[in-house]
Amino acid sequence: MHFLSVLSLLTSNVWLVSAQVTIYQPNNQVIFGGSSSATKTRTNIAAAATYTGAAAYDPTILQPPPPPNPPIPTNQSIQLYSGGMNGLSKSQVGAFFGFSIEMSVATHVLGKNSSLVQVPFLNLMANIKERAGWVQVRVGGNTQESAELVQSLPNGTILAKDTSNAFNPTGTPPLAYTSDLLYLMNNISAFTNTRWFLGLPFFNTTPFAVGILEQGQAILGNNLIALQAGNEPDLYAQPPRTHRPTGYSPFDYMGDIGSLINQVSSNSLVPNKNNLFIIPSISATVWTPEQVWDTGIVGTYTSSLYGLAVERYPANNCAAVYGTGKAINPQDVFPNYLTHNASTNLITGYLNSTQFAMTSVKPMLMFETNTASCSGFPGISDSFGAALWGLDWAFTMAYNNFSTALFHVGGQNAYYNPFTPPPTNQSSFHQWTIGPIYYSALVMAEALGPSNASQVLDITQNEFAPTYVIYENGTPTKLALFNFITDPSGANDWIATFSVGGGQTGQPGATPSSVKVKYLSAPSVSTKGNFTWAGQTFGNNFESDGRLQGNLDVQTVNCDTTAGTCQVKVPAPSFTLVFLTDTALSAVSPGATLTFPTSAVTRTANTVFIDPTMLSGSNGHYGMQDKEGATSSGSSSGALGLRQTFPGSFALVCAVIVMGTFAIWHP
Ligand SMILES: *[C@@H]1O[C@H](CO)[C@@H](O)[C@H](O)[C@H]1NC(C)=O
Ligand SMILES: *[C@@H]1O[C@H](CO)[C@@H](O)[C@H](O)[C@H]1NC(C)=O
Ligand SMILES: *[C@@H]1O[C@H](CO)[C@@H](O)[C@H](O)[C@H]1NC(C)=O
Ligand SMILES: *[C@@H]1O[C@H](CO)[C@@H](O)[C@H](O)[C@H]1NC(C)=O
Ligand SMILES: *[C@@H]1O[C@H](CO)[C@@H](O)[C@H](O)[C@H]1NC(C)=O
Ligand SMILES: *[C@@H]1O[C@H](CO)[C@@H](O)[C@H](O)[C@H]1NC(C)=O
Ligand SMILES: *[C@@H]1O[C@H](CO)[C@@H](O)[C@H](O)[C@H]1NC(C)=O
Ligand SMILES: *[C@@H]1O[C@H](CO)[C@@H](O)[C@H](O)[C@H]1NC(C)=O
Ligand SMILES: *[C@@H]1O[C@H](CO)[C@@H](O)[C@H](O)[C@H]1NC(C)=O
Ligand SMILES: *[C@@H]1O[C@H](CO)[C@@H](O)[C@H](O)[C@H]1NC(C)=O
Repeated sequence: MHFLSVLSLLTSNVWLVSAQVTIYQPNNQVIFGGSSSATKTRTNIAAAATYTGAAAYDPTILQPPPPPNPPIPTNQSIQLYSGGMNGLSKSQVGAFFGFSIEMSVATHVLGKNSSLVQVPFLNLMANIKERAGWVQVRVGGNTQESAELVQSLPNGTILAKDTSNAFNPTGTPPLAYTSDLLYLMNNISAFTNTRWFLGLPFFNTTPFAVGILEQGQAILGNNLIALQAGNEPDLYAQPPRTHRPTGYSPFDYMGDIGSLINQVSSNSLVPNKNNLFIIPSISATVWTPEQVWDTGIVGTYTSSLYGLAVERYPANNCAAVYGTGKAINPQDVFPNYLTHNASTNLITGYLNSTQFAMTSVKPMLMFETNTASCSGFPGISDSFGAALWGLDWAFTMAYNNFSTALFHVGGQNAYYNPFTPPPTNQSSFHQWTIGPIYYSALVMAEALGPSNASQVLDITQNEFAPTYVIYENGTPTKLALFNFITDPSGANDWIATFSVGGGQTGQPGATPSSVKVKYLSAPSVSTKGNFTWAGQTFGNNFESDGRLQGNLDVQTVNCDTTAGTCQVKVPAPSFTLVFLTDTALSAVSPGATLTFPTSAVTRTANTVFIDPTMLSGSNGHYGMQDKEGATSSGSSSGALGLRQTFPGSFALVCAVIVMGTFAIWHP
């Protein structure tokens, strides 16, 4: 593996390997690390040297790696057995693949306040809900650690950087937010069945500021899953951080958790005291997970703990972002992401932990991950290759008994965002940008589906062609097939020849007579934007209102009933999802989606905000003439529908020309 050695960084700049730090500046410009600028990031990357916009829209396009030599086998036989196979994972929920949103950018992504929700975000979450039943989102990150819940903020804002304490050795200034942030989240839950993880500030322990826990339970109720107690505590004492004394150890962390639990035990504003906290969320670069488990922390505090978490990026782009050391050339490391090895190598450090979590009867969560910390890599993190990498990494985690994987959302200056709202001063004429990792999330939601019974088995035969089977209640329901290679000639397409049951005595299952196939496609692993999932897309930069556009293309493949085999082609590159039963497909096919025509408004500061109370009052009766996907973004016909229905009544900040539409899943 050529991933940058984390240890080599540890010796010089340990803080650089930490999770993404995103700071929301008062001027709405999002920067990283507090000490750097977008310009600095870019000037260190030769290929993008002439580009002067934000990282999220960086035009760098890399060369796809050449096809491997020797080539991959172009015909791979797969034998599945009805009733189950050895080594299946535990049962996974469809919401396995969720999102981690840096707290400092929460209002930019979720909405301005509880009555002005970002409609594209609603649509993006609704897409997952339609397929998986619900969505998991964490709001937190390094910026949670000293965040303060306050009564009110100037000018009615609900989240702000505390500029009175601008200097901070981590580059993470304190945030202040009001409880309206929680109301905003709860309103999002009402439409999209999103359930939330929050971060409890952990820098100040005397006492811990538990306002977010009190208010979180009061406002979010069951939509609050749990609170993260400590974000990367293994880095707390690493220079230049000074949040804990030198030598702060897993035992000291256990002591802090004990104090927190003790403090909460007598707090009457926290009615639910069980299964509350997520620990230890280490970066696993300073402490190993085993060192934390060995303290006995899980057994000691088991009733207070919701789950066990780690955070992990396979590489970092810190040298480029901070101008420290030798910047990694993205082209050199691109091939590292385009093989199954990327995921199987990354998982090894956690195999003991997922087993330990299961014996402790706690979920194991990957609380923050993405292609690379410190913004990701231009040309990798925003390429089709990242969509394939993200999916393979998610499947690998699911197979190895993680319960949840949250992929991080930074801000304008991250390359890896699953989705990026336009810069605030461009929201009047730009829509959102949907990145490759969101496609991974959408596809994973379909691969696992809403049954909560999906069990994943890695049956990979070749590192460039990861292969998984998904079982539900003993029946193989889906095959997940990858091709990491770029080769338009077709010479590196491969064919999965599979059968079910195999004629084994006592095995009731049989090969289906036909299967349905969906492709996640792009011309090359280096392609940016316009990726298609079953023919539909979120378009290029600034083109999405969060709904898939284009005609759905689900292919039917007839099987050879005499031979008892099916053959499905896996083009280079692609991810191919094979539905082995009709039920498996129908369970993840959006059916109840209503399109609420409205909302993108030109020449206004807040293009796609809408008053959720209006929507809840609408009860789904409006806009039913438009099914999701039937109306293209930019069409004005549907928009007129809502304006006629609600003349002047909905709370767009300003309405001049209506030109878009959005969809809400109707409960
Ligand atoms: C693939 O292999 C199977 C059996 O191994 C064979 O029946 C089938 O014809 C082969 N398909 C192709 C396209 O070569
Ligand atoms: C995952 O858990 C299941 C039990 O539900 C177990 O059979 C399987 O071996 C575990 N997988 C791994 C990779 O540890
Ligand atoms: C949200 O912001 C808008 C515009 O600033 C304001 O009119 C509205 O009252 C705010 N809503 C809440 C709940 O604060
Ligand atoms: C609040 O708004 C007023 C008027 O727009 C402005 O002068 C003031 O600087 C704002 N205060 C803050 C803290 O943003
Ligand atoms: C949205 O939040 C407001 C609080 O600002 C609340 O009054 C309203 O009921 C919420 N709407 C929904 C649908 O939860
Ligand atoms: C992947 O791992 C296998 C087994 O360790 C090794 O043989 C192979 O060379 C690796 N491939 C790449 C591209 O790193
Ligand atoms: C996993 O646990 C075993 C047994 O406790 C231990 O020997 C091994 O070192 C652990 N693996 C890691 C990666 O720490
Ligand atoms: C938006 O703000 C950025 C940073 O302040 C500035 O460079 C850019 O020109 C602005 N764009 C528009 C369209 O005003
Ligand atoms: C799956 O689990 C989720 C979350 O616990 C739950 O809300 C949902 O009802 C479950 N679905 C089924 C089909 O059991
Ligand atoms: C993206 O797709 C649209 C619609 O298919 C097409 O018009 C456009 O040219 C494509 N853009 C790129 C950059 O491929």
